[in-house]
Parts: sequence; C-alpha cells; structure tokens
Amino acid sequence: MYLCTFVAIGQFMEKIIEENKQGTQLDLEKIVGNTKKLFIESYGCQMNFSDSEIVASILSENGYNTTNLLEEADLVLVNTCSIRDKAEQTVRKRLEKYNAVKKTTNPGMKVGVLGCMAERLKSKFLEEEKIVDLVVGPDAYKDLPNLLSEVEEGRNAVNVILSKDETYGDISPVRLQSNGVTAFVSITRGCDNMCTFCVVPFTRGRERSRDPQSILEEVNDLAEKGFKEITLLGQNVDSYLWYGGGLKKDFDKASEMQKATATNFAGLLSLVAEAQPKMRIRFSTSNPQDFTMDVIETMAKYQNICNYIHLPVQSGSTRILKEMNRQHTREEYMQLIDNIKSRMPDCGISQDMISGFPTETEEDHQDTLSLMEYVKYDFGFMFMYSERPGTMAARKLEDDVPEATKKRRLQEIVEVQQKHSAYRTQQFVGKTLEVLIEKTSKRNENQWSGRIPQNTVVVFPKENYNIGDFVMVKITDCTSATLIGEAVGYSENNS
Ligand code: SAH
Ligand code: F3S
Repeated sequence: MYLCTFVAIGQFMEKIIEENKQGTQLDLEKIVGNTKKLFIESYGCQMNFSDSEIVASILSENGYNTTNLLEEADLVLVNTCSIRDKAEQTVRKRLEKYNAVKKTTNPGMKVGVLGCMAERLKSKFLEEEKIVDLVVGPDAYKDLPNLLSEVEEGRNAVNVILSKDETYGDISPVRLQSNGVTAFVSITRGCDNMCTFCVVPFTRGRERSRDPQSILEEVNDLAEKGFKEITLLGQNVDSYLWYGGGLKKDFDKASEMQKATATNFAGLLSLVAEAQPKMRIRFSTSNPQDFTMDVIETMAKYQNICNYIHLPVQSGSTRILKEMNRQHTREEYMQLIDNIKSRMPDCGISQDMISGFPTETEEDHQDTLSLMEYVKYDFGFMFMYSERPGTMAARKLEDDVPEATKKRRLQEIVEVQQKHSAYRTQQFVGKTLEVLIEKTSKRNENQWSGRIPQNTVVVFPKENYNIGDFVMVKITDCTSATLIGEAVGYSENNS
C-alpha cells in the first residue's frame, strides 16, 4: 500500500516473490493547445503513482498532453523505486526498452528519471545510462519546466535537492486515469524513522506534513467530483503533525502557540471524517510505534473511517526488530493488536514482512510465524531482505542469510498467510456487508468488483448497480483472497 506494487497474497501468488514488473502509465484527458506528448509511467509505491499525477499536472500547464505510446512521445518520464534491488533492475530494463524505441522509431525523444532511483543515484545516472537526459528527485518536480528547457537546449539536467517544506499541497493532481471512485491524497512526505534496512529516508528526505486546510480542500474537491473513497497517504501517516509548516523534527523549536494549535493524525482524521461524512476514509501506511489510542478511538468513533489498518511488523522477533531499529518489541505489537481488536473487533489488519534480515536465526523466523498465528492477518505483503546501499544494515551488518534460506522462510511465511487469509475470508461468509463498487471484475465481465471497509475484495452480479454505488452484499462463498456474493439492495450511505 504504501501500496508499493507489493502484491497481495492470494490474488497473484506467483508474483509475490517475483515483484511487480509492470509499470503503470497515465493517459489523461487532452488539453487543447498543448502540442507536446508526455509518456509517464510509475513503479513502486502509491506515493509514486500520486506524484506522477502531480508531475502530469505541472507539465499539462507547460504544453504537454499525455500519451500511452512510447513511439510518439516527445518526453518519456519514469517514476522509479529503490526499495529492493529487483525494483531497480526493473527500471533498468525499461530504460533498455526506451533505448530500443529511440534507436528505431523515435530518435527525438528525451528521457527523464524521477523518484527514488533519481535521488539515490543523482548525476551518476547520466553516466551509467546514456539514454537518460534528465534526473529529478521527489522534491524537485516544480522545477521540471526549467529543467526541460535546459534539456531542449541540448544539456542534461539534474535536480535532486530534498526540501524542508515541499509537500505539493498547492498542486491539484490530475486523476483522470482513475476509476472516478477512489483516490489517494498525500498528507506527509519523507520519513524520519531510519529503519536500518530501508532506503526511503535517503531518497525521500526528512518528514514533513501538509497543511490540513489544503488536505481538506483536496478532499472536498474530490467529493464534489463524485469520488467516494480516499486514502490518506504517507510513509508513516501516524506521525502526521502540522504546526504551521517545517520539518517534524523541528517541532520542539515551534512557539507555544504553534504547539497548542498543532494538528496530529487523530485530529486530521476527525477533520476529514467530519468534512465528508459520506466519504469512505482509509490511510496508509501506519507504523506501530506511532499508532496511538487516539487514532483507534477516532476510527471507532466515525463510521466513515474504514476499519482496516495496514500495520507492517517486518519480523516477530524482538531481537530482529531491534536490529531493524523498529521502536517496539514483539509484545508491544501484540498489545497494540489487542487494543485495536478490543475497540474494533471486526477491524481488518494486514502486514509487511521481511524474511532473512541479517543475523536472522531459525528461532527468529519461528517467532515471525508464531506472531502471525497470534494476529491472523487478513492479508500481507512479504519480501526477502534485499540489501540497500548506504543503509545502516548495509554498513553495519553482513547480509549473511543464504538466498535459499531467505526464499524458504519467505515461502513458509506466505503459506501461513494464505491459511490466515482463507480463515479471515471464511468469517465473512453468511454476512451482509457494505461494498463500494469500483470496477468490472477481471474474471467475469457480468460481475462487479468492490471492497468492504476491511479492504477485502468482493465480486457479485452486476444487476442494475453502477460503479460508485454503495451496495449491501450478502456473502455466499469465498476464496482465500476474494468474497463472492449477491447484492441485496443499496446501502444507507448511497446518495
Ligand atoms: N513506511 C513505508 C514502508 C515503505 S517500504 C510505507 O508506507 O509502507 C514498504 C515495505 O517494503 C516495508 O514495510 C518492508 O516490508 C519492505 N522493505 C523495505 N525495505 C526493504 C528491503 N531492503 N528489503 C526487503 N524489503 C524491504
Ligand atoms: Fe522505511 Fe521504516 Fe520509514 S520502513 S519508510 S524507514 S518507517
């Protein structure tokens, strides 16, 4: 969820280990008068997808319409991910493809790299990949028009400066490629947590929050356009803190007045829930160390905040959690799960797990499996450890778990998750649940696909219902990933 193009268990099992190799391209409504053609595609997390919408918006005011044909593009932008080595390899392969198209059919096209790989490799990218003309880090997109004029004059251009306050709060992303029902709204950028395995703090910079007023404006605008569900997005949404601007780490230096009027994540959730009581609200990603009782109470209080939490744990071993610099123990995490379930017994919970972190023993791995047994997650996103250059783990710890062991442990984690996913979906059979219709089912064009608040996918016959309707669906059957049912009428929420 930080919707990385992680793959949810059950839905595309074979891809869990493989990683998603498909980029997603934007092809938006054309603006009359724009003559240049932009091909933009995104890899990695949802923040990248959301950023690409911001980039498309900036460039639409600078003469560019989007296209999904590489062959006709004047400018090709690829928004990249560095989270695991495989994610970077995927982008390198795409660059080879652009190169081939440039050589054969489109000699004039320019190529730019955006996102985390741009930030990590900086101008080295230009040396390593001759096809690249432009390198732009995640906080420098507003500079794109200037950088592009340099490129047009035949010079390579690089801007990878990370910002203290850039949140793109003033740019309304173009969302015309979406289903018109669900949308992502960024609320924080960067991350201060320094998990020892993670490259994000290096590529996305320090943590800063966006003005709640601009978040509310975006949410209200989405509601007006007919959107029915929003996901508040950040690397670590629970540490959201608005005190008038500036980095989260500088909050201590804020004035008494600023501190007294600051908005935290629970406060933001209430503001959004009250502003749009019919809008479904989700958020991602939560970090257990920052997840407060206040957030649990706020979720329980507002019916429109979905009872679903993506709560990555990475490992069930306190010793490994410490090595990862996660700021909680196994027991504290279990307590948090208990607190969530006691206030919201029906709350859906999902995980991220890493197998084979340096020094992980068989006993640590068993701790992960037993933690999973305790929680019985609804679904999860599971990865083998991939050493990232520059991170604390890469500098201080040897990547000493053999590949085959990492793989075997991952497989065991995946199998346990599959069992739990099947258990969780089975619990819904016989119930009548509210579903927001998002699209036609991939498997059957006579069926709709939507999700319940807990985030589980439901498919059911279309009848006379439409995309964007809230429908009550009686669940009659399930697989480990999908609920199958029949609509029994509109939900009260339908307007
Ligand atoms: N806080 C972020 C986490 C981003 S990374 C969020 O919003 O989701 C997403 C997931 O990728 C992490 O939770 C972790 O499980 C996995 N991950 C990150 N770095 C990794 C690495 N070096 N090797 C394997 N998996 C990693
Ligand atoms: Fe990465 Fe940990 Fe932040 S996983 S994004 S450093 S919370």
